[in-house]
Amino acid sequence: MTTTENARPLRVLQLTDPHLMAGSDGTLLGVNTRNSLNAVIAEVLRSHGQPDLILATGDLAQDGSQEAYRFLGERLGAFNCGSAWLAGNHDDAARLYAIAAEYGASQRHIVQGGWQFILLDSSVPGQVYGELAESELSFLAERLEQNPDLPALVTLHHHPVDVGADWMQDIGLRNRDAFWQVIDRFPQVKVVLWGHIHQNLEQQRKGVHLMATPSTCIQFTSGSRNFSVEEQAPGYRWLELQASGSFTTEVRRALDFEFELELNSSGY
Ligand SMILES: [Fe+2]
Repeated sequence: MTTTENARPLRVLQLTDPHLMAGSDGTLLGVNTRNSLNAVIAEVLRSHGQPDLILATGDLAQDGSQEAYRFLGERLGAFNCGSAWLAGNHDDAARLYAIAAEYGASQRHIVQGGWQFILLDSSVPGQVYGELAESELSFLAERLEQNPDLPALVTLHHHPVDVGADWMQDIGLRNRDAFWQVIDRFPQVKVVLWGHIHQNLEQQRKGVHLMATPSTCIQFTSGSRNFSVEEQAPGYRWLELQASGSFTTEVRRALDFEFELELNSSGY
């Protein structure tokens, strides 16, 4: 006999901030971002195996190039499941979503495994900070109103809370109060997940689990006053979601990936 709680959980992979580039030799602070993504994908397959859904949560390209987005699409072919892509501050959002559609990765509301996934575009052209347009906020509210019984994971690129790093204070989600006003109306929201800060972070807010995830390339030093990178390996987040609304999660890193990070940069 199978009960809901004992049924196989939905396995979700978050890949974030790969900062891919047009050329195969493209590097970010000394790290070849194609090679580091490849190392992370190999680590996923080795440690966790095949996911059921992939969330790619922004800064998919460093240079906004078609080649970068197509490289991502081709590399995700290592997995047997669908993916959904979001834009970050480094992306060319229009180009990203056009290519995402070619790979079936442009859905913004996904119902799978007894959960719903809502993807919000917080990117603002030409800006590092994020903002959710009225249309994104009403999309969020509508989907949650229409699906009150499905536990929800909401994801966006920018951090909607203070993450304890001075230099990141002004580059998060600007209209976070409006975002939380919507979230606070819907108790089925279990998880809010983002990228952008290139580090592992887990917090709680009014019963909602808040999570950020290491980049698949370079990592920012947590709690740093000024821009700072640290020599941690590229990584990913894995979530296992039960239809009851409970879940487990874990961050893993490609520890065998060798790289020489430019530690003294003042930006990226
Ligand atoms: Fe990033």
